[in-house]
Amino acid sequence: MSTNTKVGIAPATGRLGILIPGMGAVATTFMAGVEAVKLGLGEPVGSLTQLGTIRLGKRTENRTPKIKEFVPLAALEDLVFGGWDIYADNAYEAATNARVLDQPLLDKLKEKLSAIKPMTAVFDHEYVKRIDGPNKKSGKNKMELAEQLMADIANFKSENNCARIVMIWCGSTETFKKPVAVHQTLAAFEEGLRQSDPEIAPSQIYAYAALKSRVPFANGAPNLTTDVPALLELAKLNEVAICGKDFKTGQTYMKTLLAPGFKARMLGVKGWFSTNILGNRDGEVLEDPGSFKTKEETKLSVLEQILQPALYPQLYGDMYHAVRINYYPPRGDAKEGWDNIDIFGWLGYPMQIKIDFLCRDSILAAPLVLDLVLFLDLAQRAGMKGIQEWLSFYFKGPMTAAGLYPEHDIFIQLMKLKNTLRWMQGEDLITHLGLEYYD
Ligand SMILES: NC(=O)c1ccc[n+]([C@@H]2O[C@H](COP(=O)([O-])OP(=O)(O)OC[C@H]3O[C@@H](n4cnc5c(N)ncnc54)[C@H](O)[C@@H]3O)[C@@H](O)[C@H]2O)c1
Repeated sequence: MSTNTKVGIAPATGRLGILIPGMGAVATTFMAGVEAVKLGLGEPVGSLTQLGTIRLGKRTENRTPKIKEFVPLAALEDLVFGGWDIYADNAYEAATNARVLDQPLLDKLKEKLSAIKPMTAVFDHEYVKRIDGPNKKSGKNKMELAEQLMADIANFKSENNCARIVMIWCGSTETFKKPVAVHQTLAAFEEGLRQSDPEIAPSQIYAYAALKSRVPFANGAPNLTTDVPALLELAKLNEVAICGKDFKTGQTYMKTLLAPGFKARMLGVKGWFSTNILGNRDGEVLEDPGSFKTKEETKLSVLEQILQPALYPQLYGDMYHAVRINYYPPRGDAKEGWDNIDIFGWLGYPMQIKIDFLCRDSILAAPLVLDLVLFLDLAQRAGMKGIQEWLSFYFKGPMTAAGLYPEHDIFIQLMKLKNTLRWMQGEDLITHLGLEYYD
């Protein structure tokens, strides 16, 4: 299949500001990592934009450029970091507290990281119950808080001489919420901001400020945030690219590798029990049942969507799926996730798979943050607005158009992502049909 029309993409000239609500473990591991890579102190392992290649044309053509050479992405040298947090620690102090990266490495980056100081945050304790901090904004209503955030964005942009800005939520997981009337239209949402409607979450105030400022927005947590009609309306109206939700790392990433494999071979699954221990601040926040419920929703939906029990009732119709997360401080960011999977094969004979994944959450998440900000900036320069489904690859709960079920299979997601890049550059889309080689 050929499109052969290039999408007009504005060049990536000038500096790209990355603004992050929530300067915790993930955000600081990302910032420190980029600085380390720039100094040659490490490799950007896990980043498709930095290490990935893309095949173009037929397999006989041997054309596989690096993705970053194929599409015009911002260079690491052009990235500038900023953010907001309820704690006043600068990025060096926050990274030190997060205990993800080794201190000798952080010390080499101290000057750069210490200069990144969080702006005062928009925070509501009702939405994140287990933590609180002093570095917060106040205002007479939520609209005024949104206006303060817009001023922060504009000031950051001019003070740092940025050509463009991207925002990515790396803040704590907010309590579970379903969309209600105030989320249905932009007019209702704006009235809700003026009335300080309790159903408007802090993450939605950041998202509103971003979209009003024509800043693309990604959501790394499972919160509702932009996944409501009012903010989708604003994204379309202001022609801004958005994507979410919840970085696909750790245990759920493993699920999206294995489950498509079982389904491909028509192997049944009777039960999938997943449990985790982790001791970072994210783990502490997730001890609150409201925040855990938000997380549980995205974690549970993945298997349902991949295995399609309605289509294969005899294989997946009777599957028991449970996910547990326990806060266990001694582990810090070095999480341990166990999966017990009860599968069955020919004539229903049972088998078991056990996974014990000693992973590092923020080490897995940091490269996703990098890819997302670079790809979102690319999408914005290519004039792509609203939900960027091609970035589903990075999320546990990919946003989709209303009525569309999300695609969770990571290999389909990767194909969709690469085909989108080919489409942008007017290259043939790759269907993997391959009959032409045998004519
Ligand atoms: N690490 C992973 O692999 C992974 C995967 C998927 C999703 N996530 C999500 O990413 C988010 C960040 O994870 P983390 O490990 O860095 O957590 P963290 O607790 O270290 O950092 C979150 C930071 O957000 C701040 N914060 C909370 N509410 C805020 C607000 N309204 N405004 C500004 N700052 C606010 C907190 O003070 C904290 O410093 C979490 O929601 C987590 O669930 C992480």
